[in-house]
Amino acid sequence: MDQIVIRGGNRLSGRIPISGAKNAALTLLPCALLTDEPLTLRNLPRLADVDGFGHLLNQLGCSTTIEGSRPEDFGRVMTARATTLSSTVAPYDIVRKMRASILVLGPLLARAGEATVSLPGGCAIGNRPIDLHLKALEAFGAEIELASGYVKAVAPGGRLKGGSYSFPVVSVGATENALMAAVLAKGTCVLENAAREPEIVDLCNCLVAMGAEINGIGTDRLVIEGVDRLHGATYAVMPDRIEAGSYACAAVITQGDVELVGANPDDMVATLAALREAGATVETTKKGIRVAMSGRPQPITLSTAPHPAFPTDMQAQMMAMATLGSGASVFTETIFENRYMHVPELTRMGCDIQVKGRTAVVRGVDKLVGAQVMATDLRASMSLIIAGLAAEGETQVNRIYHLDRGYERLEEKFQAVGADIERISAD
Ligand code: UD1
Repeated sequence: MDQIVIRGGNRLSGRIPISGAKNAALTLLPCALLTDEPLTLRNLPRLADVDGFGHLLNQLGCSTTIEGSRPEDFGRVMTARATTLSSTVAPYDIVRKMRASILVLGPLLARAGEATVSLPGGCAIGNRPIDLHLKALEAFGAEIELASGYVKAVAPGGRLKGGSYSFPVVSVGATENALMAAVLAKGTCVLENAAREPEIVDLCNCLVAMGAEINGIGTDRLVIEGVDRLHGATYAVMPDRIEAGSYACAAVITQGDVELVGANPDDMVATLAALREAGATVETTKKGIRVAMSGRPQPITLSTAPHPAFPTDMQAQMMAMATLGSGASVFTETIFENRYMHVPELTRMGCDIQVKGRTAVVRGVDKLVGAQVMATDLRASMSLIIAGLAAEGETQVNRIYHLDRGYERLEEKFQAVGADIERISAD
């Protein structure tokens, strides 16, 4: 298996282009199932998960063509067209590898009146159920059965009739599935306590560009007036706020100075506040955001929660940054119950982190030392890279397929700002 090898100690300086957002791409792609006309998505990141989603669309009868795939291009343009659907089944083998595949459930149900999707099963960051996805669809009129590890959803009469659902817990994925199901309903659908993440706003804007009627975009109450059909559209995926935040943490821990080109500060308010709390200079530039640091990070206190609060997807990277802090930082993870799996690996590099339940106390140490490490999920992997960039000696990060799922051309982007980092291919 490939490895990433980092020789730490270099200060990062220069410009880093920010790619299209993985999590937005994964909810915009299934929108292609909602219409027989082409949906063209620009600024799609070049990632294993995006390719995987393309293959899933192909299995359902949706064609995909990609432009701009010269190796030197960042961002691709994909046109997906589901003139007719050849299948309404998302099989276990695909859903197991890519949890976001469950996002075809809502659009298939809306377009074809039925969908059969494998249950995703366990995942590394905890037990992630999909009960809320199903309850929202039921509230809009779907009949749902669970059998042999699959969810089978049917809209009686071929079309959802509308209704209201109030989420007991804020869920990004369930809000997305419900939205994509609601846009073609016969009546009005109301979602209360809906997720407000920027990726949800991106999804709503794309659906509106396709002819959907959605009120309350950006708030936790979404009112969707179902329409009879949607049409094609061309839509640009938003910049990846988590990728941008990850590179910002790397700049701070190496006491560097980087410009995150293309990043949108409005999507990143809580992350930028945490960087400022750590003592970083954070400025909006014409092209994005500049993050600069001198000295050790000051201790920070943060708690993950749904947007606009601090994102769980930034917790591991911020923790890596805090390991070289000048005091004790306190992290509380409220979204996922098992999201401190980077901690034992960071400890191997000399970090001092104590976890008790949902809380982690990170006592800043004077130095980190490179080690062989491996991670169990995407953001945890990035936290090990960040620590490795500031560690003495060599860090070898294993299982980098996680990184390839979510960070476009990671080594190239880091090398361009001065990091000593390379991918060692197993062949
Ligand atoms: C999405 C993101 C992920 C991010 C997470 C939280 C994608 C592809 N993934 O994941 O990167 O970490 O949002 O911002 O966009 N829950 C239930 N029942 C459900 C659904 C969720 O109990 O049916 C719980 C989950 O276990 C979790 C919480 O709700 O505790 C939030 O999860 P959710 O927002 O749904 O995360 P995902 O959409 O899976």
